[in-house]
Amino acid sequence: MAGMNLTLKVWRQNSAEDKGRIVEYKMSDISPDMSFLEMMDVLNEELIHKGDEPVAFDHDCREGICGMCSMYINGEPHGPEDLITTCQLHMRSFKDGDTIYIEPFRAAAFPVIKDLVVDRTAFDAIIQVGGYVSVNTSGNTQDANSIPVPKADADAAFDAATCIGCGACVATCKNSSAMLFTAAKISHLALLPQGKVEAQQRALNMVEKMDELGFGNCTNTGDCEVQCPKGISLENIALMNREFLGASLKSEK
Ligand code: SF4
Ligand code: FES
Repeated sequence: MAGMNLTLKVWRQNSAEDKGRIVEYKMSDISPDMSFLEMMDVLNEELIHKGDEPVAFDHDCREGICGMCSMYINGEPHGPEDLITTCQLHMRSFKDGDTIYIEPFRAAAFPVIKDLVVDRTAFDAIIQVGGYVSVNTSGNTQDANSIPVPKADADAAFDAATCIGCGACVATCKNSSAMLFTAAKISHLALLPQGKVEAQQRALNMVEKMDELGFGNCTNTGDCEVQCPKGISLENIALMNREFLGASLKSEK
């Protein structure tokens, strides 16, 4: 397949205070085998060559693990394909002559820092209030094989643990809710013996922090599940709600 000619419409914003605007760039002879981020690298090389400011975007692993490469592509977080991140998207998903809109994730809790880079430290703040096991497991740690875990629970915990904290669930939600992310972290720990001990208090703390940080409420729209590159299931939200309810009832006693 020959190289493609594309028109990019990219969100440019100098700083958090800048109003921001869409800027058009013409790209020629783009290989369909390039990844989306490699295509962005080509754009940036051209911009640098012309003496212009390159487009700021986050990336790290470039293999679907770190969750950094968050951007909106033609109105969808991580672009048009399901179950992949932007770094795993290839240019063969587009056609010669296409116009591609590239914008940052938008949510009050994820302010734009520059161009496509947003501040997602709000996710870290949610983790800091409970996304860990604080029981002392050192010194007399039991052998893992002596703590039986039902296979179904181990599988569900593993699935929840695949959340990479990318924020696509928040970006796609009309309420900017962080329920799917928070629920993934809560169920990943609540399903395992070591994490069960603090499960209810963890749910209470993390949900309260989520609200405090300006994430919206969940109205069961389900967009988050559809757009999640890791296929995190809405069932995790049901589990989180059970833990949260348990903790709320206890604190009312
Ligand atoms: S739940 Fe999915 S969309 Fe949300 S942060 Fe985790 S991996 Fe990303
Ligand atoms: S750069 Fe790490 S998931 Fe895309």
